Amino acid sequence: MPEPVKTNIEADFLQLARTALSGRIQDVQVVLRRAAKRYHQAVPQFAEALTSLLHEAPSPASPLRRQAEVPLPVDIDSRLHLMRVETEPVLDHEPVFSPECEAALRQIVEERRNPQALARAGLDPARAALFVGPPGVGKTMAAYWLARELKRPLLILDLAAVMSSLLGRTGSNLRHVLEYAKTIDCILLLDELDAIAKRRDDRGEIGELKRLVTVLIQQIDDWPTSGVLLAATNHPDLLDPAIWRRFELHVEFPLPNQEAITRFIDATLSPYFPATTQWSGLLAAGFAGRSFSDIERDLSAARRSAALGNVPLEEQLAGLLTNKSIAKAKRIQLATAIVGRGLLSQRKAGELTGVARDTIRSRTAKPRKKGRSRNGRDTS
Ligand SMILES: Nc1ncnc2c1ncn2[C@@H]1O[C@H](COP(=O)(O)OP(=O)(O)O)[C@@H](O)[C@H]1O
Ligand SMILES: [Mg+2]
Repeated sequence: MPEPVKTNIEADFLQLARTALSGRIQDVQVVLRRAAKRYHQAVPQFAEALTSLLHEAPSPASPLRRQAEVPLPVDIDSRLHLMRVETEPVLDHEPVFSPECEAALRQIVEERRNPQALARAGLDPARAALFVGPPGVGKTMAAYWLARELKRPLLILDLAAVMSSLLGRTGSNLRHVLEYAKTIDCILLLDELDAIAKRRDDRGEIGELKRLVTVLIQQIDDWPTSGVLLAATNHPDLLDPAIWRRFELHVEFPLPNQEAITRFIDATLSPYFPATTQWSGLLAAGFAGRSFSDIERDLSAARRSAALGNVPLEEQLAGLLTNKSIAKAKRIQLATAIVGRGLLSQRKAGELTGVARDTIRSRTAKPRKKGRSRNGRDTS
């Protein structure tokens, strides 16, 4: 009887990683071909999937070969790809959505997963959804999330970028991109839609904009039910009403509330910082009114400084509450809470939040209620 072939996943993975990172596709193909052979006996399905991937030969220039033979549209002058293509979208971290927003997104997913149920009722899944909200609250991220949930490639057309570099040829470029996207089973995101979809009576570039809006409207009307068309905007007021109307679904992305910010901070810091839950509520109060991307930037700046310097993360975090945009009364409250929970000394907390030590002392000296609220959070 032949010896079962030995496989060593860790060693193979490392070798593949080393080869892939060196950047020569031919070498990667050799490694994969060998792996397909070696794993054939032990995990035949895996080996077959690998073999068919090798036959398909996706490349950076045409990552979607399986879906379409048409090459990606490229602007002839700049040779820049007009679209970002995510064949298998991944997220660095899980998004935090408001309950209404999450329900709307899950509904899109459900409709696509179960089109038969809709068809029996004489309905089609919603084709086009418009994401509306301020910058940095997860509109683009939601498109990635949807694409991942639906296991479809994501094509992103950033209209702000297209408009600034290609004005004059934008109409034909836009048509080109949308025609391409229609040929594959994908999710297409028209990001920063307001860049193009200005009111048609905009004084500035009337002729050009009118043509663009017309192209866009035609294309949205022609969009096949099999595809998912998404668009995102920070300025819904700038949208042409004719475009606005064409999106069957409008999904609001609000600035996060306290609960959402707390969840986001917990998820961001807890892998690195054991005292996260003691801080997240306080920080959330300090971050009120800010977007997720702002908060994320501040947290990673704090983590970077803490990692490099001698200042512990606690102090970096308290420093975020010094922000002058936070009202003094609120800072006093936060500094008092920090001391009350024994997270930092009065002196440190005062220094970092810009609150006089005497003020903190006078607040914390009062006899505090012993209990904590039922959810374990300090109610002060
Ligand atoms: N709802 C959210 N949940 C988690 N992280 C978020 C969320 N919104 C934004 N972020 C973070 O901020 C970054 C920018 O968000 P993005 O989706 O591009 O915002 P928008 O498209 O609304 O301007 C994201 O990559 C993510 O790291
Ligand atoms: Mg965006």
